Amino acid sequence: MKALIPAAGYGTRFLPATKTVPKEMLPIGAKPAIQLIVEEALAAGVEEVVIVTSPDKPSIQAHFAAAPVWRARCAKKPEIDAELAHLEEIGRRIRWVYQTEQKGLGHAVLQAAEVLQAEKEPVLVLLGDALVSGEAPSAAMTEISRAHGGASVVGLEEVPLERVSRYGIVRPAEQRADDERVYRLADLVEKPAPEVAPSRLAIAGRYLLDPAVFGLLASQTPGVGGEIQLTDAIRRLLAAKEVYGYRYPGTRHDIGNPAGYLKALQAFS
Ligand code: UTP
Repeated sequence: MKALIPAAGYGTRFLPATKTVPKEMLPIGAKPAIQLIVEEALAAGVEEVVIVTSPDKPSIQAHFAAAPVWRARCAKKPEIDAELAHLEEIGRRIRWVYQTEQKGLGHAVLQAAEVLQAEKEPVLVLLGDALVSGEAPSAAMTEISRAHGGASVVGLEEVPLERVSRYGIVRPAEQRADDERVYRLADLVEKPAPEVAPSRLAIAGRYLLDPAVFGLLASQTPGVGGEIQLTDAIRRLLAAKEVYGYRYPGTRHDIGNPAGYLKALQAFS
């Protein structure tokens, strides 16, 4: 299984900090957020992680690069050296793709089409600015997909009605009788007004997607905000194949804004 982490966005909601520090590199203790996200993917059984980044954010790639000078400096500090060795090991499993124009999440995912569209298994997509405290959803989503013949699964979170217009919102068709957290989806809509929202279940930072989504993204016309929307491509996927939703038990933190980041720090402390 392969994973994809879009991490090329501008991070304007977190300026001025993000002038020089990408939001994905903000520290959660001794590790930058994106390392925790890569570790979540690897723990779910992923073999290779594709990170979509921007040439303006070189520190992300530098973080995962081999660091012989640091290894030499820390040779007499076995615990720190072990962390650095672990990081190098992770780095060998990452492949880099660039998004040179920041045209939104769907466009970022599309940049990885060339390396991922021939995959046989669903691809795990983890947003680079979304951390989940408590139980990580990726492993459970993988199991749900396998139980449904390799179907796509999106991670869900229940949000207050006044906030539905910020998210992709799903219309559940039915709940699985043996697991009330799992829904087969009938439809989804990007950023609906509260009056027309089909539910309060929002797509929340984790996706396990049939590779057919890359072809759909390539022919996707711009949606809300004039951007190529990943939600719109998943909606077209749903017309041809089953898509499930998993209302995961962990708590999602949007570290792309200062308040969300501070809450993430508290949750992980
Ligand atoms: P966001 O929409 O939260 O990121 O995307 P943003 O555009 O950086 O946010 P603001 O509005 O400027 O503050 C969620 C994830 O998708 C990536 C981001 O890096 C983030 O991890 N992304 C977003 C891209 O890779 N490319 C884009 O064009 C937009």
